[in-house]
Amino acid sequence: MDGNGRWAKQRYMPRFFGHKAGVDALVRAVNLFADRGVEYLTVFAFSSENWKRPSDEVSGLMGLVLVAVSKYLTRMAADGVRIRIVGDRSAVSDKLRMAWEHAEDSTAHNDRITLSVAFNYGGRWDIVQACQRALADGVAPVDLTEDALGRYTALSFAPDPDLFIRTGGEMRISNFLLWQAAYSELFFTDCLWPDFGAQHIDEALAAYAGRDRRFGGIRMPETVTAGDG
Ligand code: IPE
Ligand code: MG
Repeated sequence: MDGNGRWAKQRYMPRFFGHKAGVDALVRAVNLFADRGVEYLTVFAFSSENWKRPSDEVSGLMGLVLVAVSKYLTRMAADGVRIRIVGDRSAVSDKLRMAWEHAEDSTAHNDRITLSVAFNYGGRWDIVQACQRALADGVAPVDLTEDALGRYTALSFAPDPDLFIRTGGEMRISNFLLWQAAYSELFFTDCLWPDFGAQHIDEALAAYAGRDRRFGGIRMPETVTAGDG
């Protein structure tokens, strides 16, 4: 979800104004994706590296999450959204951790769409924490297969993403789903996150529909059954 700061700057407003608009864009996007049959949506809200930002922006973002949970949780729960948080919770405040738990518990029964919010998340962090937990469980090196390690990754409850969208014009992954995105189709758009809406979603899904996914194999000829002429 990139581009909040630039979106605000274009309007001569402080960056925080863009982050607030970004939350509204997210709430809107979840429903639009769900309406189109997407069952898992994972968003990058705060990266392991975002702590490097000025402290007032970091604390603003932390506060915004609390406000967003109290403002939108009831509505999202009623909309059938299951909320899950992925990332290192050890570094966030108790208050925020409790808000996350409340959001997860109160939407655990929902199954229209699962929204995973990556917060204090990094793709490398995820791979390292998966290894650490596997070792702590006593998994032997020979048993540490891709499947086995995958079960320890933060998004083990979800299928690997089919489509990876980055807004804001940059063409890089920036330490998002390194493990999970091995075969994801990538889609980059100049749209700044607060502007992201139905038109961009449909554009991304149309691009995805046009891709030829081979997962390292080759394209198989169409099978023709007898009688087809
Ligand atoms: C992304 O928007 C939102 C978060 C990382 C929370 P940015 O804050 O990176 O916005 P730009 O890239 O400066 O426009
Ligand atoms: Mg950015």
